[in-house]
Amino acid sequence: MTELANYALRDEIRDYWSARAETFDLSVGHEIFCDAERRAWHRLILRHLGSGAGRRALDLACGTGVVSHLMHDLGFEVTGLDWSEAMLARAQAKARQRGSDIRFLLGDAERTMEERESYDVIVTRHLVWTLVDPAAAFAEWLRLLRPGGRLLIVDGDFVTETWASRLRRIVERLRLARSGPVDPGTQMTARHRSILSRVHFSNGARAEDICGLLAQAGFEAPTIDTRLGAIHRAQARHMSLLKAMERATQYRYAICAGKPLRSG
Ligand SMILES: C[S@@+](CC[C@H](N)C(=O)[O-])C[C@H]1O[C@@H](n2cnc3c(N)ncnc32)[C@H](O)[C@@H]1O
Repeated sequence: MTELANYALRDEIRDYWSARAETFDLSVGHEIFCDAERRAWHRLILRHLGSGAGRRALDLACGTGVVSHLMHDLGFEVTGLDWSEAMLARAQAKARQRGSDIRFLLGDAERTMEERESYDVIVTRHLVWTLVDPAAAFAEWLRLLRPGGRLLIVDGDFVTETWASRLRRIVERLRLARSGPVDPGTQMTARHRSILSRVHFSNGARAEDICGLLAQAGFEAPTIDTRLGAIHRAQARHMSLLKAMERATQYRYAICAGKPLRSG
């Protein structure tokens, strides 16, 4: 019964993202709109994973391939995996357009079907908050990494309201009250809220809780890095003031953890 319910939720999450694929890259924070932001992302990746030098990287829940391309820029041999065909189609189109030899795979980040110990690094942005079973996912990611390999998670708590998100919500409610009948954006927000209420981190993905689960799965020394200011400042130049303030006040972070050289 539980398994069936979980299966339905996974389908719902996939369909939700597929419905957002067409416009995903229009948003700041998804696609990158200036070199300052690109350089800030590169610095974050280099800080935790070092340069690629041909090492194999897996970008889990790659969406339209934004992070896959950042990794490719740094010399990794990149595979991007996502379970949404619509997202992958856009990722593939962008890779063709940019002439980058990224391999894209359709699959579930919790059960990838990839070979054990086949990646040097795994990176994933904005996936963990929406996982149905993070413990199973982290066990799978540990299996995929070679001994000594590293995992980099970029995520955030998008549930806990900050003063800026409260202000933005009030302003948006006033704007909607003036605009009349329910628009498609509102329907997507309702779908998002409904999904969020049923995922593992329904109260918000706190980095400390993720680190606890990573340690339980067998990762060593998970560390939390909240130095994302340069990325957020670069994004703020292309956002409304309210959105930029919300972003600056949310708990957003990177987590880096390693697979031990020897198990046991
Ligand atoms: C917020 S988007 C992030 C996309 C990309 N990582 C980025 O930061 O631009 C979430 C993505 O996760 C994918 N996703 C969610 N759960 C997944 C799972 N279990 N397996 C594979 N993809 C998943 C969705 O299809 C969607 O493309």
